[in-house]
Amino acid sequence: MTVTTQTVREIALENPASIRVFEAFGIDYCCGGRKPLAEACAAKNIALDAVITALENGTASSAPVSDAQSLSALVSHIVNAHHAYVRRELPRLAELASKVVSRHGDTKPELPQIQTKLGQISEELIEHLAKEEVVLFPYITKLERAKNEGTAKPHGCFGTVASPIAMMTQEHEAAGALLAAIRQLSGDYTPPVGACPTFHAFYNGLREFEQDLHQHIHLENNILFPRAMAMEAAQ
Ligand SMILES: [Fe+2]
Ligand SMILES: [Fe+2]
Repeated sequence: MTVTTQTVREIALENPASIRVFEAFGIDYCCGGRKPLAEACAAKNIALDAVITALENGTASSAPVSDAQSLSALVSHIVNAHHAYVRRELPRLAELASKVVSRHGDTKPELPQIQTKLGQISEELIEHLAKEEVVLFPYITKLERAKNEGTAKPHGCFGTVASPIAMMTQEHEAAGALLAAIRQLSGDYTPPVGACPTFHAFYNGLREFEQDLHQHIHLENNILFPRAMAMEAAQ
């Protein structure tokens, strides 16, 4: 069976990344998802080829980050790839959470608990991203420019860069702990047998969110922050 003859729902269940593509094209993968993909595209007057290309691209991973790149390039990558992802994904996950809680919250008590923790993550992370973008990252970019130009290091509103870094690192741990609690409540993001596509989409979305956050935190904690501290100490 090819992707064109499979139903939209079958593709969504088999390949979670496809759900974003269906959402982008406005193709119903849930209640009206029992049509073959070709038929669903024809009904909405969407070019089948465009959807197939997007489905193929949707599973391609982004290019790895080189450890040798400049700190300002690394900052841009973090903001454009990971901060943008967090801002795009949190409202989508909140909407999926509302749907699954309203439909299944009475029989699945873990769902409202997950929704509460997701709300906490959302509130804390949005503030966290702003602190990085407004305070820490501009300082790191200026620090690198001063090093390249051989000028004095910039003045920060904190003692050394280690102090905002310590705060950011602590916030990473808090977000990681909330996601670990969600992972546990959801049984490693395992939907119940026979769960609807929205339930699958929610748990898959949470799993991907956790994976992305892990990559994001790795770039900051393990690459950006130690390099920024070393650069400041050397100036
Ligand atoms: Fe970040
Ligand atoms: Fe961060």
